[in-house]
Amino acid sequence: MPSPADFIHTQFILRIPEPTASFASKNVIVTGANGGLGKEIVKHIVRLGANKVICGCRSLKRGAEAKEEIEAVSKCKPDVIEVWEVDLESPPSIKSFVARANTLPRLDVVIHLAGIRSFNFKVVYDTERTLAINNIGTFLLALPLIPKLKETAREFGTTPIMTIVGSALYDRADYPQNPGQDLFTYFTDQSKFNPWNQYSLSKLIQLYTLIKLATLVDPVNETKPHPIVINSVDPCFCETGLSHEVKGMTRLVVKAFAAIAARPADDGARQIVHAASLGRETHGLYLRAGALQAYKPIAQDPKKTEYLWEILSKRLEKLDPSIMDNLKA
Ligand SMILES: NC(=O)c1ccc[n+]([C@@H]2O[C@H](COP(=O)([O-])OP(=O)(O)OC[C@H]3O[C@@H](n4cnc5c(N)ncnc54)[C@H](OP(=O)(O)O)[C@@H]3O)[C@@H](O)[C@H]2O)c1
Repeated sequence: MPSPADFIHTQFILRIPEPTASFASKNVIVTGANGGLGKEIVKHIVRLGANKVICGCRSLKRGAEAKEEIEAVSKCKPDVIEVWEVDLESPPSIKSFVARANTLPRLDVVIHLAGIRSFNFKVVYDTERTLAINNIGTFLLALPLIPKLKETAREFGTTPIMTIVGSALYDRADYPQNPGQDLFTYFTDQSKFNPWNQYSLSKLIQLYTLIKLATLVDPVNETKPHPIVINSVDPCFCETGLSHEVKGMTRLVVKAFAAIAARPADDGARQIVHAASLGRETHGLYLRAGALQAYKPIAQDPKKTEYLWEILSKRLEKLDPSIMDNLKA
């Protein structure tokens, strides 16, 4: 968890400049783009001249409302923003989204923003729902998009990027002592579910996965002619709908804390757009407060990294049997 001094600096003192890197001629995917950080991310990317921004939303209606609002502000042409349906809890929806993405002439940037912080226990993909969406659903979508990024790199001589939106709370995760053979199965038992921990744990698992993925896709020690970048970024604590499931008195406390400490969603969006415009120096790495930040000891655990990759890849293969072929592309 960020130290109090780090938290004060990041939430109250840090100056977060508007991103300025050009997105001209780029095609960009942003998941979870209909609200919170996502809508602000799309505004910046449109302002920076993207050719196309695809908003991956599970509700086409909410996506269309966001598109209308962004177009009104940015005055962009109506064909720049497209809203495509994607639900990270639905493998057929993910499959259709990927098939559509593969029809694009190029894919330059993918920002995996969609995620949840669930306070209500529910089992999805045979695990607890926060892990199901933030880990299984996120990578069920991420892996099949890699070949298109690599194809774009080869054909256009560019360095496409996949950015996974993480959270500094990863460092606060309480990792279970004995999760058994499969940590995802462990969390099908409601008595193991602590809503305040589950989100942090999902963000820790995202980092283990990112670290492993970056060793499998264009690793830094191999010089391939047209590598891509996969990185992660913490946008800091921002006012969004992320904690909307908190109820009762706790909701009032959370809201009061957010009123004091949270930054506007635009501040988080600026940092995410910045991270999604960086290069190979960020491959497999994590950014916070506008700069690369070393992983905290909890994320530097090769045994857990391997274990989680093994159980996650089995889960992914169950849902999409040829998914690992995407890493050979
Ligand atoms: N806000 C913060 O302080 C903060 C800090 C660190 C990291 N983050 C990260 O930022 C990301 C989004 O956060 P936010 O703060 O903008 O929260 P938000 O306002 O709740 O936005 C979450 C987005 O994810 C979408 N989503 C949820 N479940 C989905 C599913 N099954 N399939 C497809 N899309 C789904 C939501 O769609 P619906 O509108 O349909 O629900 C919404 O568009 C998360 O990954 C979170 O971990 C946020």
